[in-house]
Amino acid sequence: MTNQNLRLHNHPLIQRDMTLLRDKTTPSPIFRATIKNLARYIVYEAAADLALADEPVETPLGPFTGCRIATQNIVLAPILRAGLCMIDGAFEVFPYAQVRHIGLYRDETTLKPVEYYVKIPAELAADTVVYILDPMLATGGSAIAAVDILKRRQVKEIHFLCLIASPEGMAKLSEAHPDITIHTTCVDERLDENGYILPGLGDAGDRSFNTGE
Ligand code: PRP
Ligand code: URA
Repeated sequence: MTNQNLRLHNHPLIQRDMTLLRDKTTPSPIFRATIKNLARYIVYEAAADLALADEPVETPLGPFTGCRIATQNIVLAPILRAGLCMIDGAFEVFPYAQVRHIGLYRDETTLKPVEYYVKIPAELAADTVVYILDPMLATGGSAIAAVDILKRRQVKEIHFLCLIASPEGMAKLSEAHPDITIHTTCVDERLDENGYILPGLGDAGDRSFNTGE
């Protein structure tokens, strides 16, 4: 993977919150609130790549050529379930973004992604910028499937935003989709035999929704 398509966001506030997220004693409500907060930070950081267009305004003393985000079509695409917790933080950066949910789960035996909910128009506007939201990039299967779904809708600019990536997932995703940008706060050591990231944070969906039975 080249540095061109990887962005590592490790601001001290991000590292502080990631520690809370990894802590196994962090309860579900705090876990969700922390994902929301981290999503706000990482979406803000990812937005640094956005193109600008001129926006003329009048100050009380005269004209000024300011700027606006060039595209009017920002799409947030959370991968269910854990990506849902990133939406509210992302909305704080882009309150007028569209949200396009992508329902995928990992089959526990094969670790392959299974699609169960995608309701996105057959074609999105040519200048659409999509931020896929999912806290975990493990084997990379879910991320690759989500990008496939969006590329079938002619999306040209795709950013995959996660909180923890595995080296294996990063390699797979950048090989399958070298044209997208991957944003993460850290790259952990490796996957275990069940496809979990080590040391990771455990099961993000279960910890988010209190379903770790
Ligand atoms: C988790 C996570 C990712 C996926 C990553 O979801 O939120 O979507 O696993 O794994 P991968 O890179 O190996 O595909 P999960 O499939 O557990 O779904 P859930 O949150 O709905 O339980
Ligand atoms: N999904 C998770 O929630 N956690 C992992 O470590 C891997 C996949």
